[in-house]
Amino acid sequence: MKQYGYFDDDVREFVITDPATPWPWINYLGCEDFFSLVSNTAGGYCFCKDAKFRRILRYRYNGVPMDSGGRYYYIKDGDSVWNPGWKPCKTPLDRYECRHGMGYTRIIGEKDGLRCEVLFFVPKGGRCEVHRVRLTNTGAAVKRVQLWSFVEWCLWNASTDMENFQRNLSTGEVEVGDRILYHKTEYRERRDHYAFFGANRPFDGFDTDRESFLGPYNGFDTPQQVFAGTSGNSVAHGWSPVASHRFDLTLEAGKSEELIFVLGYVENPPEAKFSAPGIINKAPAEELLEAFGTPAKADAAFAALKGYWDGLLCRFQLESAVPELDRTVNIWNQYQCMVTFFMSRSASYFESGIGRGMGFRDSNQDLAGIVHLIPDRARQRILDIAATQFPDGGCYHQYQPLTKRGNHDIGGGFGDDPLWLIFGTVAYIKETGDFSILEEKVPFDNQPGTEKTLLEHLKISFARVADNLGPHGLPLIGRADWNDCLNLNCFSDNPDESFQTTENKTEGSRAESLMIAGLFVAEGKDFAELLSQPAVSADPAYVDEVREAVSRMETAVKQHGWDGEWFLRAYDYYGRKIGSSENAESKIFIESQGWCGMARIGADEGLCGKALDAASKYLECEYGLVLNAPAFSSYIKDYGEISSYPQGYKENGGIFCHNNPWVIIAEAMAGRADDAWRHYCKISPAFAKDQSLRKVEPYVFCQMVAGAEAAHPGEGKNSWLTGTAAWTWKTVSEFILGIKPQYDGLLVEPCIPQHIGSYRVRRRFREAEYDLTIRLTGKGGSFRIPYRPGFQALEIEL
Ligand code: BGC
Ligand code: NOJ
Repeated sequence: MKQYGYFDDDVREFVITDPATPWPWINYLGCEDFFSLVSNTAGGYCFCKDAKFRRILRYRYNGVPMDSGGRYYYIKDGDSVWNPGWKPCKTPLDRYECRHGMGYTRIIGEKDGLRCEVLFFVPKGGRCEVHRVRLTNTGAAVKRVQLWSFVEWCLWNASTDMENFQRNLSTGEVEVGDRILYHKTEYRERRDHYAFFGANRPFDGFDTDRESFLGPYNGFDTPQQVFAGTSGNSVAHGWSPVASHRFDLTLEAGKSEELIFVLGYVENPPEAKFSAPGIINKAPAEELLEAFGTPAKADAAFAALKGYWDGLLCRFQLESAVPELDRTVNIWNQYQCMVTFFMSRSASYFESGIGRGMGFRDSNQDLAGIVHLIPDRARQRILDIAATQFPDGGCYHQYQPLTKRGNHDIGGGFGDDPLWLIFGTVAYIKETGDFSILEEKVPFDNQPGTEKTLLEHLKISFARVADNLGPHGLPLIGRADWNDCLNLNCFSDNPDESFQTTENKTEGSRAESLMIAGLFVAEGKDFAELLSQPAVSADPAYVDEVREAVSRMETAVKQHGWDGEWFLRAYDYYGRKIGSSENAESKIFIESQGWCGMARIGADEGLCGKALDAASKYLECEYGLVLNAPAFSSYIKDYGEISSYPQGYKENGGIFCHNNPWVIIAEAMAGRADDAWRHYCKISPAFAKDQSLRKVEPYVFCQMVAGAEAAHPGEGKNSWLTGTAAWTWKTVSEFILGIKPQYDGLLVEPCIPQHIGSYRVRRRFREAEYDLTIRLTGKGGSFRIPYRPGFQALEIEL
């Protein structure tokens, strides 16, 4: 089985040893408002705040060859031209290594006695990428070599950059300094920002016009200037502005040369935009280059970044007998949760950065992965999300990170959305104990003057679902519930319309969702518990109302949502069952087994246990639990997008990893440790054996792995940005390892196979630090730790 890399846990890195990975294996840089995607061959792009509106580097999704465009360093050593990251020239290297770490990537290429090491990172407090390039002559003779940098600018709006060529090819503008190349397209008019690419010493040549650098018919792999050993000293006017520096270097035997490049973004206030007519104010760019432009300063910035991640990750550390589990918990799952929180579903190698911004339900779920790491940012996020809610409790399905305004193109109408606000808020308060967030005033649809407290927002969220029930007393699904592709009010024959926004037959709609029913019961119970906290002082009559609505829903599910062996998935527009043994296909779906199972609906009557057995029996395959089985074999107009996918992919029979944790948690709640563990290991990348088959990064969870009915079962897709990150975190930390934040402390209640023996968790919780050694003796049960600031070491036998 071919391996392309391995985990180096001591330094929290994944090390790629063969650049020709089956798909680009990427990393993310940045943790404030400047972000970069960087692949193992230095491909990718960066943006400030918003991947659509403030795109800095151009990137061609779905390009040929794949992953073309990035920050490329070219080396010319005699007749040989190569890149430390192998691409784009693909000149064979004597040695290649890419180390993806926490917020940085280090790429090392070596050829003919010359080593080039490039460290890429986005420093804390700097809107820039720092590239630390070190060239070492490992041979015995002096070497004269040349180094070129290269990036291609995006004309800011990543969407129009790919469309509006009649304009774009005329707007490009640059300025050239002796160390810094500036990209200032549209700065002359309404923009207050520009980008720059600088080096910490004067260059020997430069290019800012793409065709002058590459040659009109050449690709990134054969830049004419590099092969000629020259620069064109070109100044771009329109066409495609780029930035390339050239350095002619002499390296004594055994000696190194280090250059520091800063690729940055600057915003200037209107009165300070220009230093002279038409000349941009360059002072902030020079300062940024200055701030990181010596080895000592770059070292310090890099150390600060490492310190930041050390400080975060030490908040939850596990020592167990299972290395795959330790590396998932201690490093990569927490890291993926952070990245997912930053990006929501906007920018990955599967999300173009121009489509979806921040999802209402997605961002609420993402909170569960990071509340223990960055609670202040979680707090702000909750308030931002709540401000995209409508007065009737519905909400925008998505919003744009730059403006924080709801996205009109897609609008609202997804039946489950409002309940996720309760989910996110509960996760935040249980972790932090910060009830004051409930008193924050938040507007509706961002309209000043409409403010109500967050607690009121939660009440109307709850009411929105409680008051919109169908004929069976189950929640109306709307455009879709969590499963965006189960479109029961869309009947589309027209390939040019969206499944998500088309509702062409709503009158008399009766489509109801069992997934929302389970979510409503689970979140309703959480909501009642929150309202009952002394710090909330809610009206007891209202709390009773919530409890009664929950209990009515439980009754409705038991009466109309049980199929005999498992929970139904939905009732369609005509009131017909979906996810029933009566159906020809898709007799069973995962979402309702997970949610009704987590809500413990009918647990006493044995319904949850049966539903979980059915999930294992009908949905489980080698790589996890598929979403529905058997998958739809043809398009069904009454069901929408779900049946548009070939069998085994995405929402039609794919292993949609996001929802596997729901079943795993339900298993844990039912005390079935072996089932929970087996399902968990199947979707966890650290346990996957075949890197070629999995295809995408072995260090992060996928949204989807092709299911048993697919042509290529086990093939992963949509890595990185997925609710799977937060849900697997919640699953492993709270339900498998059993460290559950409560309003008044921690509850230790593991559900983990006994053979794991014992484990140690060091957990920061508010102002407390716990060092817990948990020994599994087989007696089971739970252990309550009342919150008290300070350090406590405990040995717990369960
Ligand atoms: C995908 C879903 C996704 C939706 C977003 C669909 O095509 O299959 O996973 O949530 O698009 O709009
Ligand atoms: C991905 C979307 O981001 C998420 O909101 C949705 O719940 C799932 N796909 C399932 O359709």
